[in-house]
Amino acid sequence: MQQELTANLLKPAASLSPKFFYDALGSKLFEAITLLDEYYPTRTEAAIFEASRADMAQALVDAGIRSPCLIDLGAGNCAKAASLMPALQPRQYVPVDISVEFMRDAAAQVQNSFPALDIVGVGMDFSSGLQLPAEVQPHDRVFFYPGSSLGNFHPDEARGFLQHIADPAEGHARGLLLGIDLVKDSATLEAAYADALGVTAAFNKNLLLNVNRLLGSDFSVSQWQHVAFFDRALSRIEMHLEARMDLQVSWPGQQRRFRAGERIHTECSYKYTLDGMQALLHQAGFSQVRHWTDPKQWFAVFWATV
Ligand code: TRP
Repeated sequence: MQQELTANLLKPAASLSPKFFYDALGSKLFEAITLLDEYYPTRTEAAIFEASRADMAQALVDAGIRSPCLIDLGAGNCAKAASLMPALQPRQYVPVDISVEFMRDAAAQVQNSFPALDIVGVGMDFSSGLQLPAEVQPHDRVFFYPGSSLGNFHPDEARGFLQHIADPAEGHARGLLLGIDLVKDSATLEAAYADALGVTAAFNKNLLLNVNRLLGSDFSVSQWQHVAFFDRALSRIEMHLEARMDLQVSWPGQQRRFRAGERIHTECSYKYTLDGMQALLHQAGFSQVRHWTDPKQWFAVFWATV
């Protein structure tokens, strides 16, 4: 991990992996982002679930899935899955998240609300592969990947990840319920990643504090500013941290100078069209694909079966 961080920080175009966003404070800050007016994805997705959860439950039944195992990728506070449980009636619930403590507390609350549910919490970074423990039932697996997190992969990686889930020898998925943000006007998109209150800026900069802990570096948060913009040609929001002055960062055995205006790339958030996501799911090996969306077509929930 230290080697990966060092290598990425020493590249001419420095970057930091977004998986380091989610320490305890980062998970809380992300939760706060989802409450912001500007961050429309969470509430738009919630409204789609609310309006269509009976339809979604029927889609599982139509696919012959009787006792679903709901595998929640990036479960976070588990709120989205919990909202669907009365409709989907899973037999087993598998929250997966890199932020283990945060997710375990949330899973304990789910257990209180649904005492009979079999819950298997998994703490891991699945961005580089998904190995589920043997307690996870192999049949009737439904992968739940909400929040447009798939958009944080580059499209080739996204296809690879979906292929892995759909592969009968690997993920054993019967179905996938996927929430994805859609292409729209730049102002709406950019406001969602640069809110007026500065919560997203704090979330982005908190990455530096986490890296200081992991690497022993001496990033000074006040020397950096949050930058987010939509690149329409690449169909993605890019998040960066930009040096506000000439500065130097040191960590054991290394150092790097940054000029004022130089950036560290921290995350991409790809935006899809309905057709584009449909094509990607087919390419990944899903045979049947349908979707639900909101009246403005800002966000979509896809249901894909293998
Ligand atoms: N999956 C979220 C998204 O792309 C993650 C996210 C929201 C995020 N806001 C952010 C990541 C700001 C980095 C910085 O919408």
